[in-house]
Amino acid sequence: MNTWTSSAPASTMLLGEHAVVYGEPALVCALDYWLTIRWQPRHDRRLIIHSALAEHDTTLDELTDHPQLRFVLAPLRHYASQLPGLTLTIDSQIPHTMGLGSSAAALAATLIGLQPLLPQSPGRLDQFELGLTLIRQIQGRGSGADLAASLYGGTVLLQPRLPTITPIPFDPEMTLIYSGYKTPTAEVLKQIKQAWDPLPELRDSLYHLMGDTVRQAVKALALDADAQKLFSRLFNTYHGLMDALGVCDLTLAKIVYQVREQGLAAKISGAGLGDCVLALGQIDLPGYHCLPATITEQGAWHDAP
Ligand code: MEV
Repeated sequence: MNTWTSSAPASTMLLGEHAVVYGEPALVCALDYWLTIRWQPRHDRRLIIHSALAEHDTTLDELTDHPQLRFVLAPLRHYASQLPGLTLTIDSQIPHTMGLGSSAAALAATLIGLQPLLPQSPGRLDQFELGLTLIRQIQGRGSGADLAASLYGGTVLLQPRLPTITPIPFDPEMTLIYSGYKTPTAEVLKQIKQAWDPLPELRDSLYHLMGDTVRQAVKALALDADAQKLFSRLFNTYHGLMDALGVCDLTLAKIVYQVREQGLAAKISGAGLGDCVLALGQIDLPGYHCLPATITEQGAWHDAP
């Protein structure tokens, strides 16, 4: 069998962080930064992975873990009995410290790249559901919103209870402003759970309000000329709800208000307590790493072996 390539985009949350983990909807989009895997079948049962983050040499029968490669190894482990030995070479343009869904992109590129080796290609939603199960095995909690965007491309609405993943025609100009640090998502989710355990009713009301804000924002996008204005307002509102939840800090608050002073809507994007602020529009904030966030309509893909 010849070699083939699979590739998946980065992603960023537009709206719905945290509440989506507890069943509320989220809007998330795929960004034009890509992680690519080159697949090379072998005549033995070895699994060799080359990447900038790690080198790994194991067998499909043993499949030993590697902390930097867990999102690639998990789907391989799931299908191990059906696979030939493989050499994988991973290249990524996704800055992995900025919370741009690099783990989800690695998972999506692996799930899609496995397709040529399986007797029947699973559909995208089946791949999402398998991926979500693997994410929860690896990190305990998680909605898979970033995986949904990586698999489907464009802007998608994830409704986690069903689940459904619906493309939404929304392609605004955006800038990501990096705070300079990151708290791992699993750690933020754990902290927030513990902090709110004594106040379950208030927590549930807050998540419900977050969900309502996303529902209103999706409705606003279905309107015409004034949609952007209303969406921007709800975007700012969602930041306030994340602050109430406890995932804003001084650096993030400063960035958000500096962006707003220049007339753009801004909110934390992702788990919070670090990562990025997302601004609706183009902006260059002195002293911060600002990254243009261009949405790609293309989701994860593989070429023919
Ligand atoms: C992190 O990008 C978004 C969270 O909602 C976690 C998740 O959806 O899995 C905080």
